[in-house]
Amino acid sequence: MATIPSMMQAIAVVNPGKDSKLVIEQRPLPQPGPEQLLIKVAAAGINRADLMQRRGAYPPPEGESDILGLEVAGVVIAAGPQHKSWLGKAVFGLVPGGGYAEYALLHAGHAMVVPAGYSMAEVAATAEVFLTAYQLLSSIGNSQPGQHVLIHAGASGVGTAAVQLAKAIGCKVAVTTSSDDKLELCQKLGADILINYKDVAFEQELSKHWPDGVDIILDPVAGDYIRREIPLLKMDGKIVIYAMMAGRDVPDLDMAPLFKRRGQIICSTLRNRTNSYKTRLTQAFYQAYGQALAQRQIQPVLQQQFHWHQAEQAHQLMASNRTKGKLVLTF
Ligand SMILES: NC(=O)c1ccc[n+]([C@@H]2O[C@H](COP(=O)([O-])OP(=O)(O)OC[C@H]3O[C@@H](n4cnc5c(N)ncnc54)[C@H](OP(=O)(O)O)[C@@H]3O)[C@@H](O)[C@H]2O)c1
Repeated sequence: MATIPSMMQAIAVVNPGKDSKLVIEQRPLPQPGPEQLLIKVAAAGINRADLMQRRGAYPPPEGESDILGLEVAGVVIAAGPQHKSWLGKAVFGLVPGGGYAEYALLHAGHAMVVPAGYSMAEVAATAEVFLTAYQLLSSIGNSQPGQHVLIHAGASGVGTAAVQLAKAIGCKVAVTTSSDDKLELCQKLGADILINYKDVAFEQELSKHWPDGVDIILDPVAGDYIRREIPLLKMDGKIVIYAMMAGRDVPDLDMAPLFKRRGQIICSTLRNRTNSYKTRLTQAFYQAYGQALAQRQIQPVLQQQFHWHQAEQAHQLMASNRTKGKLVLTF
């Protein structure tokens, strides 16, 4: 195995805030702790959290790398004493930060083996969105075959993973997005009901298809959506909020319709979960869906790869809301 350098190149954020810039900096190589793997990064997924972090709105968890990047794919080049069996393996997984760099630390419990036939860019587009969707649908939503699931932003990174997992569970799936080409992608992924929210009010359109209502709503939009979603819920229905892209305030919220349905509004984050939670989540996901992933019954939707020196262009594309599926940096 090649010698491991003491320094690496990484993308740093200068001037965090609305005028932030990404620059390449020399950083010391991170040293793996007893439970960690050192990865020679081949590809890193881009996530909206990276855009928020560079604006100063989403600091990394305490003690974690300040380098952007929540998921990587690459080869293990060093490992804690109990984890030497990972050496030389191609892996991917969630990192708490530090992904936009030539080398990154990955907790051994969060590592997944790259399935045969997958490129490093594809697997770098997999962990964050599939683990999030799995958590929202299964661990939190407890979704069951035959249930009605509404997935907002169906063509987004998380949305494309959630549509596939919900169909794999056997749910009926409705999606909302802003354009017909995004709806076409959702249909290819298996969505049953396609709603362009620019053309129609999603709640009115969905009520026509599902007059009995919805069991689970996956919502990264929040704001005014919450008020509009509550009347759609079946008895004991759940609204699972995982971002607040339209804002934190819910105007004119009337709790009575939620109460009448014994409805639940649940908020969830992934990044600030403990290592042991992420280990259980990763292993449960890989056990349930590793084979489906390997056989491409489910797979990441990778829109575009960027050389890592072009991270700024990639961020601008993501901020434009024109993406379908994922963007990835390659090293
Ligand atoms: N809580 C967690 O555990 C967790 C985990 C992963 C991601 N997230 C968060 O979830 C959100 C989605 O992540 P992602 O990776 O799927 O994002 P993404 O791939 O960048 O897609 C986001 C899409 O959301 C839609 N959108 C944006 N602003 C909107 C608004 N104001 N109203 C309605 N739709 C809007 C747009 O699609 P349309 O064109 O269809 O509107 C946009 O393309 C992000 O905020 C991310 O940080 C949370």
